[in-house]
Amino acid sequence: MSTPFLWGVASAAFQVEGALAEDGRAPSVWDVFSARPGAVRDGHSPAVACDHYHRWEEDVELLERLGVNAYRFSIAWPRVVPTGDGAVNPAGLDFYDRLVDALLAREITPLPTLFHWDLPQALEEGGGWSERATAHAFASYAAKAADRLGDRVGRWITLNEPLVHATYGHALGVHAPGRTLEVPGVLEVAHHLLLAHGLAAAELRSRGLEAVLTNNYSPVEPAGGSGAGGGPDEEAARAYDTLHNRLFTDPVLTGAYPDVSALGADAVPGVRAGDLDLIAGSADGIGVNYYNPTRVTATEPGAGLPFGFGEIPGVPVTGFGWPVVPEGLERMILLLGERYGSALPPLYVTENGCSYPDAVSSDGRVRDRDRIAYLEGHVSAVEAARRRGADVRGYFVWTLTDNFEWAEGYHQRFGLVHVDHATQARTPKDSFAWYRDLVAARR
Ligand code: FCB
Repeated sequence: MSTPFLWGVASAAFQVEGALAEDGRAPSVWDVFSARPGAVRDGHSPAVACDHYHRWEEDVELLERLGVNAYRFSIAWPRVVPTGDGAVNPAGLDFYDRLVDALLAREITPLPTLFHWDLPQALEEGGGWSERATAHAFASYAAKAADRLGDRVGRWITLNEPLVHATYGHALGVHAPGRTLEVPGVLEVAHHLLLAHGLAAAELRSRGLEAVLTNNYSPVEPAGGSGAGGGPDEEAARAYDTLHNRLFTDPVLTGAYPDVSALGADAVPGVRAGDLDLIAGSADGIGVNYYNPTRVTATEPGAGLPFGFGEIPGVPVTGFGWPVVPEGLERMILLLGERYGSALPPLYVTENGCSYPDAVSSDGRVRDRDRIAYLEGHVSAVEAARRRGADVRGYFVWTLTDNFEWAEGYHQRFGLVHVDHATQARTPKDSFAWYRDLVAARR
């Protein structure tokens, strides 16, 4: 019997849990960064978020009503190993243990992510992802989580979007830990993240478990078009594609880093003998987080970055201003197949969704028609890619409940369920009913 296609929703610990100082959890880089004046829009605090740590049973009931057969959530490293490395905090694991049991009791497959950006602050103070030791600490935390939950959880996501963590967090400084390293330093962080994935994957596999690596993917188009006349925009697009789509995938699927010279470095620093052997072939699945394609323009020489960004004309945008291009997801999935051929493991669309300024009407409904249109288009794109032979095994909407959207605080509402952040009242939106019906029809 083949495993059924996974229809799910996705979330992340720091965005929903709150309870930042409970049951032995220690601060993460996001606790510290979000307290910096100006770091989060309007100074929104993650202290409560969706209060999921206390309301998880209500949220599991919502999942049951939604009828999904999978739930992607993340485990907070600073709950499980508060100092990052060393002693495990059993109370931290207890929370996920209860959650996993509650999901399984409803025939919902748990798909945990081990790292969704909440590095224990203690590790950051020792150098964070600039240090190789952080990769080893991650693997030992992964082993501890797997020892506790591996009897019930067969498939694990190691890292969420290392690209975004490396660039937003370590180059642009707009996400935690808020560092602004030069290109070689960022590439070193990237390598340590991939090493962490490789080491953790080995721990998972040695226990008979699967390791999935989730990246953010975006098909890149040169503003000036491709082919004759594409010129400098095409070169810029290639550089951006290397950074966005290849840097964290080529080593895993081909055993080598792409040429990073266009990014302004001779090579990726910090790579030691044996690292790439460990990283190569270390994914039993690739998680595709897709939101939109990227249009790239050339920049003037000496402009710092070798690419600029342009608007995609003629398409609607979400509340975040992100262009809505569902075919981009089909294109991206097919491109991964063309690029990596038989080296490409099964794909899971581990995030896809959109934010809009949703409000509850006086009749209690949230009429989020734009979200339904967005999701409808993207589900169709996944199905089109599957018809063309792509091995996609799951689709996860980002996200269940409106939550703490990183530097945007509570401004971007991505949920199928509206959350009143003052009262924590949860109101399923029209898209919730739409997705419920879709999942019921497809299952
Ligand atoms: C992704 C993140 C996720 C969420 C969505 C909107 O990049 O993985 O946590 O913030 O964007």
